[in-house]
Amino acid sequence: AHADQRPALTLLIAAPRGFCAGVDRAIEIVERALDRYGPPVYVRHEIVHNRYVVDSLKAKGAVFVEELDAVPDGAPVVFSAHGVPKAVPAEAERRGLDYLDATCPLVSKVHRQAERQIEAGRHIVFIGHKGHPEVIGTMGQVPAGTMTLVETLDDVETLGFSQDEPLAYLTQTTLSVEDTRSIVAALKDRYPSIVGPRAEDICYATSNRQASVKAIAPSSDLVLVIGAPNSSNSLRLVEVAERCGTDAKLIQRASDIRPEWLDGVGTVGLTAGASAPETLVREVVDQLAQWRSVEEHTQVTAEEKMVFKLPRQLAD
Ligand code: F3S
Repeated sequence: AHADQRPALTLLIAAPRGFCAGVDRAIEIVERALDRYGPPVYVRHEIVHNRYVVDSLKAKGAVFVEELDAVPDGAPVVFSAHGVPKAVPAEAERRGLDYLDATCPLVSKVHRQAERQIEAGRHIVFIGHKGHPEVIGTMGQVPAGTMTLVETLDDVETLGFSQDEPLAYLTQTTLSVEDTRSIVAALKDRYPSIVGPRAEDICYATSNRQASVKAIAPSSDLVLVIGAPNSSNSLRLVEVAERCGTDAKLIQRASDIRPEWLDGVGTVGLTAGASAPETLVREVVDQLAQWRSVEEHTQVTAEEKMVFKLPRQLAD
């Protein structure tokens, strides 16, 4: 046998990475609905923000639509993991559609907190990213005008509430842990009586993935994050790596990796957003191993055991 002549590459793989319990559950809901009803099963919005997942489900007979108008009468429809405004199940009920709600239970929890704060007479300041489906869904839990979105510290500065206005804050589940901490601090500074959840609503999967990329980024020359450009938690992983002073790239598939990115690179860090399947991680490892002699290390910063129950219509 002759020695491998290709230059060595150390690969640091973050753990936890990839699928969270909410994504697992959402995909299983679509698969079980396909078994139970037979295709086509309609899905409102990408079930999770990943093209590979969406294409695999399409191949099994799922039909993705953006709004309920595109769902024919009598067809089953699944709502995505990001959650939907109240008007959506209401419309599905009005039309007599058989619907399944794949909203992540951790997003539903924020929905219920929003309702409770409104019942308690408080105006809600919601920290999130404008236009993201989770934000549209959460803002759609309460009457128009009772929730104000803030995205940045500057937005907090421009809020015009008086000190005696009863206020509460809530957050999107997939935000930057660091940025959210400072936005919450600024809110409490301006409105000392504002109430909020005990910890912010950032979910366990988001914070674990940010912590795990933070553990590998400082020793990497380049960090690759597998995720979609519309995946909030994946974009945050790129930011976390960059804040460690390391170049980071968001990629959807191994084919997105440009060989020149590896010029002068001895260590690559690798992670995946909560909606990216492990098979895409293996695909990236295999691609790198074609160019370089790869030595793989997994760096574990937490163990995850979270599993969410299926909606009762689908439970065995
Ligand atoms: Fe739920 Fe967090 Fe995943 S809110 S869908 S567990 S990223």
